Amino acid sequence: MAPKRDFLKIPDLSARETLDLLTLAADMKTGRYQERPMSGKTLAMIFAKSSTRTRVSFEVGALQLGGHALFLSSRDIQLGRGEPIRDTARVLSRMVDAIMIRTFAQDDVEELAKFATVPVINGLTDLRHPCQILADLLTVQETFGSVQDRVVAWIGDGNNMANSWIEAAGLLGFELRLACPEGYEPDHGIYHATKAKTKILITEDPDEAVEGAHVINTDVWASMGQEEEMELRKVAFQGYVVDADLMARAAKDAIVLHCLPAHRGEEITEDVLDGPQSRVFDEAENRLHAQKALLAMLLK
Ligand code: CP
Ligand code: NVA
Repeated sequence: MAPKRDFLKIPDLSARETLDLLTLAADMKTGRYQERPMSGKTLAMIFAKSSTRTRVSFEVGALQLGGHALFLSSRDIQLGRGEPIRDTARVLSRMVDAIMIRTFAQDDVEELAKFATVPVINGLTDLRHPCQILADLLTVQETFGSVQDRVVAWIGDGNNMANSWIEAAGLLGFELRLACPEGYEPDHGIYHATKAKTKILITEDPDEAVEGAHVINTDVWASMGQEEEMELRKVAFQGYVVDADLMARAAKDAIVLHCLPAHRGEEITEDVLDGPQSRVFDEAENRLHAQKALLAMLLK
């Protein structure tokens, strides 16, 4: 039997597998794909943080693939009372066919994957958000045909999303420019492991990052778990705003992405988020198609 596959970070798939996954996701979106690879199968979804898109897309996706998803809030299961992750992994593996987890520490996801005998999917940690990047790549592909010859810009916090974009750039070889305030750069280890693989610029200047870029991407200034830093961050992130002036520097056909939820008037202005270059709601929908393709690949 082939060893189980996990998806804890973007490079857990090869470039070929990622492109195949995007093709499959596009087929699923058009309705061409009609198979039911999750027939009789169950996905357990552990959430230690809030979610709208991730929860709904995995639950609906599992159903559409013929399977079932279980929502497990970490506040309600024994994990929240201190049952070790490794025991949770062993027990769930005896009952379900795959586990998705959204939590704080990437190490906890690695631990879960180490002790689970079924595929484990990272539904967001403080360090990474790989499922969102699959949906983002699908959105870029829908617009431009391919992401590989496009320039992607990231404006704002060097957070879980930024780190996963870096890993995607390294895997697929596109140019990525990140504008982050001093002290809020992406993860050092991820950047250094990736920077030789493609053209990645980290700057403090949003104009430099956006100049002629095709995909303009941002996210909230304070991620889940950083709520207490919000006031400090509001000061640090002044000027890191995706607004009409910044968009004027991008390529004429540039699109705007935001993983959502967004804070209108902070990291992005309302006119840009709701404007003609915004693809944020296609991006949100694409969570469903990309994750269905991921489930089909991991469970086949
Ligand atoms: N983008 C995203 O992951 O959204 P949720 O937090 O609603 O799942
Ligand atoms: N960076 C954000 C993404 C939310 C989907 C967070 O971690 O809260």
